[in-house]
Amino acid sequence: MDPITFVLFGSTGDLAKRKIFPALYNLFLEQKLPQSFSVIGLGRKTFTDAEFQHYVEQSLRTFSRRKPEAQERLEEFLDCIRYYALDVTNKEGYVGLLKLIQEREEQLNIPENRMFYLSVAPEFFDVIASRIKESGLGDTKGWKRLIIEKPFGHDLQSARELNHKLSQSFEEDEIFRIDHYLGKPMVQNLETLVAANPLLKALWSNQYIANIQITASETVGVEERAGYYETAGAIRDMFQNHMLQLLMMTAMHLPARITEKNVRQQKIHLLKSLRRLSKKDAANHVVRGQYGAGDIQGQAVAAYREEPGVDAFSMTDTFVAARLWIDDFFWNEVPIYIRTGKRMKEKSTRITVEFKDRFKEPYGNANQAVPNLLTIQINPDEKITLQLNSKNLLHNGQMEPVMMDFSMDASQMPEAYELLIFDALRGDATFFAHWEEVELAWEWVQPVLEAFAENQLPLHLYPSGSYGPAAAHRLLEEQGFRWWPDE
Ligand code: BG6
Repeated sequence: MDPITFVLFGSTGDLAKRKIFPALYNLFLEQKLPQSFSVIGLGRKTFTDAEFQHYVEQSLRTFSRRKPEAQERLEEFLDCIRYYALDVTNKEGYVGLLKLIQEREEQLNIPENRMFYLSVAPEFFDVIASRIKESGLGDTKGWKRLIIEKPFGHDLQSARELNHKLSQSFEEDEIFRIDHYLGKPMVQNLETLVAANPLLKALWSNQYIANIQITASETVGVEERAGYYETAGAIRDMFQNHMLQLLMMTAMHLPARITEKNVRQQKIHLLKSLRRLSKKDAANHVVRGQYGAGDIQGQAVAAYREEPGVDAFSMTDTFVAARLWIDDFFWNEVPIYIRTGKRMKEKSTRITVEFKDRFKEPYGNANQAVPNLLTIQINPDEKITLQLNSKNLLHNGQMEPVMMDFSMDASQMPEAYELLIFDALRGDATFFAHWEEVELAWEWVQPVLEAFAENQLPLHLYPSGSYGPAAAHRLLEEQGFRWWPDE
């Protein structure tokens, strides 16, 4: 791997502490970082290098998957870290930053490969990108890359504006947009699961699939993020990005060769085939909900409107369910049901594929057979389950569902940020969102945002600790289906 300078904006923030430093450290332990590298932490606070290294050490001790054991290795890692105080809006600050980076590159005798990671509030993305350009930081003789994380815009127009600004300083192939769902090991496994198993590959279309259900339910509420969440809601926070990414990864057509370019093209192609909803259609195909008071695992919890920082009459969606259709030859007439919500009964991210059950007739009693279900559990466990029908001779030969399952050993599994940072350092963008994916996702969501803003569809209150509003069940019942497992 090329030697690099990893420039981390927002290095004293929460994400850096919890995820980014631990990810870098685990990559280092696994010898997945280049031989020579330096990390430059940036932030408003004043730290000496030694103080900052101590801060990083604390973050590793608290949050790293592997706790620092050998002092020597830890010191070797910390030794690569420097700190530079920077007000990101202030032009002059970047001159000193460039000097520091150049000094480090000279000391280590490494090429000018610079990775800029913007772990800062999105309103700073464009100013930082343009300062990187103006200051000459981006004029490298090696490569430069930019890592940013959602939200990419607030709606279609602001996303386009942001992208336009970023594109003044970075080319599309230099921008790595993190969607941490794409870093989850089971999500990265999806394409292999279908591509490498003829059993599934042969069945992966409307010929055999009755519907696809994608769920991301959480038990947590808005936590301390009301300021952000009140302007976002579940539709922007989860649906526009994570949920549509899960859909793309599940339903894209497999390219003849699995390469970064082909996978991204197929994802884009899939989004282009997604049937657009008009604002009016939204009421028939989308359900929005908000949690009321209730009980989560035996603990009484407050309604969303009673959470600190939330408007007492807030109409923000903490739950969204939608029925989508892909208008192409393979998926025509297969409904895709997606739902995500906070304060639901359980934490579970999963994809369930329900197969058509056209073979039950020979047995006369059609009710005995259950549909074949393939469930890909992404969170909290990483598990694949296949539900089949089998005859139980101990029960008079009755047909019964049997489950075959396979679990990944989560304790050994790298974290999403490790996988993603490693890929970005190698320049592999397969599991990052391309601009066209982001734009098309906003295009699909935009009429729904408008319908929400104009209150064209009801806001269903659901008790905390439930499976969400009944209306989300009706979305499936209209085609004779139900959410699996049975709720
Ligand atoms: C984040 C959202 O992107 O994803 C949060 O902003 C949400 O609101 C989180 O809680 C869920 O991620 P995970 O990995 O816990 O499913």
